[in-house]
Amino acid sequence: AQAQEAAGSRFAFKPIPVSTDKTIHVPEGYSWKPLAKWGQPLFPGVPDLDHVNGVSLQHSDKVFGENTDGMEMFVVGGHQLVAVNHEYVNTKVNLPKNADGKPTSADDVKILQNMQGVTVMEVAEGENGWEIVLDSPFNRRIHHNTPMKLSGPAAGSDLVKTAADPNGTDCLGTFNNCGAGRTPWGTYLTCEENFNGYFGTPNAEFQMPEDYKRYGIAAETRYAYEKFDERFDVAKNPNEPRRAGYIVEIDPSNASSVPVKRTALGRIKHENAAVVVARDGRVVVYMGDDERGEFLYKYVSNGIYVPGADTSKLLDEGTLFVAKFAEDGSGEWVALTPETTGMKMDEICVFTRQAASKVGATTMDRPEWVAVNPVAIEAYCCLTNNSRRGEIKDGKMRTNAGGEEMTVNAVNPREKNGYGQIVRWYPEVEDHANAKFKWDLFAMAGNPAVHKDSAYAGSANINEGNMFNSPDGMMFDSTGLVWIQTDGDDSNEGDFLGQGNNQMLAGDPVSGRIERFLTGPNGAEVTGLTWSADKRTMFVGIQHPKAPFPDGEGKLPRSTVVAVKRDDNAMIG
Ligand code: FEO
Ligand code: CA
Ligand code: CA
Ligand code: CA
Repeated sequence: AQAQEAAGSRFAFKPIPVSTDKTIHVPEGYSWKPLAKWGQPLFPGVPDLDHVNGVSLQHSDKVFGENTDGMEMFVVGGHQLVAVNHEYVNTKVNLPKNADGKPTSADDVKILQNMQGVTVMEVAEGENGWEIVLDSPFNRRIHHNTPMKLSGPAAGSDLVKTAADPNGTDCLGTFNNCGAGRTPWGTYLTCEENFNGYFGTPNAEFQMPEDYKRYGIAAETRYAYEKFDERFDVAKNPNEPRRAGYIVEIDPSNASSVPVKRTALGRIKHENAAVVVARDGRVVVYMGDDERGEFLYKYVSNGIYVPGADTSKLLDEGTLFVAKFAEDGSGEWVALTPETTGMKMDEICVFTRQAASKVGATTMDRPEWVAVNPVAIEAYCCLTNNSRRGEIKDGKMRTNAGGEEMTVNAVNPREKNGYGQIVRWYPEVEDHANAKFKWDLFAMAGNPAVHKDSAYAGSANINEGNMFNSPDGMMFDSTGLVWIQTDGDDSNEGDFLGQGNNQMLAGDPVSGRIERFLTGPNGAEVTGLTWSADKRTMFVGIQHPKAPFPDGEGKLPRSTVVAVKRDDNAMIG
């Protein structure tokens, strides 16, 4: 019966029910196993996580980092390399000896800085399933102090110069690495999201520059870097936060390569980077800015991608666009240039939100991952939720951080949107470089059990058997199924009753059908997805689970990348 059902659809699995427990569930005929957990060694001779004391300073940049997120598989000379983000830290978990997890020394801060950024690790499948290859020359940790270059229009600008870097070209570290992307030339793109949270000041006299407000840079931070590492004290280094919030390109094939911050792709709270080559060979990068009422962006290179030719300028020289969605299902990408914004090129690349506001971009319900369909000319973005959309507070419509009202509109059609939706767009003349598009909503998440006859029940392809909230991660597989991962309310109560833990579902772009494939442990979000070279294994990220996942009672919770396989070893993507 299972095979029959599979034959009648594009889904090669029997959908699973919701879960509310502390582990992972996958369909009958599939199994999962941890591949990489926070605190796990990436190099020979490094001990595994000490569940009482945490990771030592000495080993903190030699283990798999915290809060696994976006990832991509690269095959280099037959070696399978996973590049994977470590978004932020859970200080109570990462500094288990400290009261409330509060960093109290420069060493504590250094440990936290080392736990975040990016891992590049070689993986191989053997008798024990998939494992990290500890002696691989490709293994690498990139963290908050790794030297990198600034390139593109903001490199060398006065806006990014500091006392330590008077040229404004050499910076340290990549921050809050959320989603990811890959280029056709084999590099990894890591996306700096909530970078604002690392920069603050204990100096109460300091007048915060006006541009800080739009990005949420404030005196107090969760991580306390500014108290122990003066680079992060904005009263001393006011330009330092203007050197974060970019997309960073990393060459996974060379563990000593210097990562490059591509300022031409703008400075926003970058979610991910979905790269596609347009009809004429220009490189298009779609990017969401994940904050309430912020925007959806697109970059188009000036030059064309020619395999084997020089690609070093393709992400430096091009045009940044922002999306305007019309009520009639049409839309337009508006260029951010000195002419359209009245700003200089370096200002557009550093104060990108402000530039986009000047051209009347559409305020969105938190743009998370964008995914481009490999078998049709269309792209999708998860608009995860927006609790303030359309809300009137003290007699006024709620606004984004730039003061623009978040009135409901056709693409963000619900007030106090707790469920989220997935927008899809079709570029005109089937060309991702075109400035015009048509759009529709692929899915409006909702709860048809709780809200019978309203928009909050969700779109027609949402039912009591597949419902979810807060779509976030999203990746297409090579067959054209779109995999949707959630980061939502997993209370299983009220508006979210019957939706259980965060999950991963597969969607069929043609029929609109959506089915649940995996459920995560309680407290976790499911984020990050890639495949082994032979497509017989799917690697899935589990971020910020609650104890005891996955090590058992009494142990610290560990963000973990798991390998999912079919028991018959058939392809799964
Ligand atoms: Fe890191 Fe918007 O998710
Ligand atoms: Ca996300
Ligand atoms: Ca999210
Ligand atoms: Ca997250």
